[in-house]
Amino acid sequence: MSDAVLSQFKQEEAKEEIKADRKIKVGIIGTGGISEGHIASYLQMPDVEIIAACDIVPTKAASVMHNYHGVKNCRCYLNHKEMIDNEPELDLVSICTYNTQHAGPAIYALEHGLHVILEKPFTVTLDEAIEVMKAEKKSGKILSIGFQPRYDYSMQYVRDIVQSGTLGKIYYVQTGGGRRRGIPGGTFIEKSTGGIGALGDIGCYSLDMVMNALGHPKPLTVSGYTSAFFGQNPKYNGEDAERFSVDDFGAAFIRLEGGIIIDFRISWAMHADTPGDTIILGTEGALRIPSCDCWNGTIEPGLKLYRDVCGKQTETPLPYIPKGEPLLFYRKCRAVIERAIYGKEDAMIVPSSEIIYNQAIIDAIVKSSELGREVEVVIPEI
Ligand SMILES: NC(=O)c1ccc[n+]([C@@H]2O[C@H](COP(=O)([O-])OP(=O)(O)OC[C@H]3O[C@@H](n4cnc5c(N)ncnc54)[C@H](O)[C@@H]3O)[C@@H](O)[C@H]2O)c1
Repeated sequence: MSDAVLSQFKQEEAKEEIKADRKIKVGIIGTGGISEGHIASYLQMPDVEIIAACDIVPTKAASVMHNYHGVKNCRCYLNHKEMIDNEPELDLVSICTYNTQHAGPAIYALEHGLHVILEKPFTVTLDEAIEVMKAEKKSGKILSIGFQPRYDYSMQYVRDIVQSGTLGKIYYVQTGGGRRRGIPGGTFIEKSTGGIGALGDIGCYSLDMVMNALGHPKPLTVSGYTSAFFGQNPKYNGEDAERFSVDDFGAAFIRLEGGIIIDFRISWAMHADTPGDTIILGTEGALRIPSCDCWNGTIEPGLKLYRDVCGKQTETPLPYIPKGEPLLFYRKCRAVIERAIYGKEDAMIVPSSEIIYNQAIIDAIVKSSELGREVEVVIPEI
C-alpha cells in the first residue's frame, strides 16, 4: 500500500464519547488499499473489535492486520466464506473487495445474518445489485453502500438547497468530472476484477451527488457512451495498456421521473482538464458546483446560487463548510453501527434502495454503449 493511501486515514482520535460495555465484532473482507479507511476507523472505536479479516492473496490479511496495524489477535482467512463460516460471533463485515467481488460476499454475509458495509460502486451490474437486495430483504439486516461523501457537510448543504425548493422545479442537471490523466492501475483496470472503469470508480460519486440532491428520482431511459482510447494506448498507459479492459471515459443523457434530465460525463483520461462544472437548473434558480474531485469526499469552495430578485439577476457565492472531524470514513462506518447495533433510526446509512438507481444508470450506460442506442431502464421488483 502506498503512503499516499495510508496517510489519508491518519486521523485525530474521534472525540465522541462511546460507552464500551459490549464489544461489537467486525470482520474485514479484502485487505487492499481501501480497507485502511475501514480498519483505521474501527480501531478508533472502543466498543468495536476487529476479530477477523480475509484476503484471497495468501498472507495479505495477516500482514495488514498483524504487522501493519498490530491487531495480533485478529484471525485471518483466505476468503469471505472461510471467514464467515468460522466466525459465528461476527456482527458486521466491511466488504472492501474489488468490484466484481462485491455481490458474492455481500450475499453470503447477509445470508449468514451479518450487517454489511459494502464499498462503492454497489456492484458491477444491475442484476447483481438486485440479487444483493433480495438477500438483504430476506435477512432483515442493515446494508449500507460506501459513499462517504454523503457524510460531508458541503454535500449535505447542496442537497438541502435543492430539497428546500429554492431552485423551483429542477429540469436539467449537468454533472460528472474527471482527470486529464489519472488512470489507476492494480485491480481497477481489468474486467475480471474492476468490471467497469471510470464509471464505477468515480462516475458513481458524481451521480450520487446529484441523485441524492434530487431525492432519487427513478431513471427512465439512458443513452450512454463509453470508450477506452487512453487506457488501451501504451503511449498514455504504458505496460498497463495491454491488460486494460474497462472504460476510461463515459458519457450519458439520462431521463429521470419528473421530467428531469441528467447530462453526465466522467473521465480517467482525456485531452482537457475538466469536462465541466456541475450545474443544476430549476425554474426559480440555478446552482453551480465548481468542477471538483467530489469522490475525495467534498466539493470545492465556489458554490454559487443564481436567482432573479425583484426583477434583477443575482449571483450569490455560498459558504463552503469544512469537512471537520472525525473523518468521513469514520462517520460512514459509525453510522452503520449506530443504526444496526444500537437501533438508532436517525443514524444515516446509505441504503441500497437509493443506490439501486445509481447502479441502474451505470448498467444502462454500459448496455446503451454496447448497443449504440438509447435503452429503457427496467428495475425488477424485489
Ligand atoms: N470509498 C472510497 O473512497 C474508495 C476508494 C477506493 C476504492 N474503493 C472501492 O473499494 C474497493 C476495493 O478497492 P481497493 O483499492 O482496496 O482494491 P484492492 O485491489 O487494493 O483490494 C481489494 C482486495 O480484495 C481482495 N479480495 C478479492 N476478492 C476477495 C474475496 N472474495 N475474499 C477476500 N478478499 C478478496 C483482493 O485480493 C484485494 O487484496 C473497490 O470496489 C473500490 O471501488 C472505495
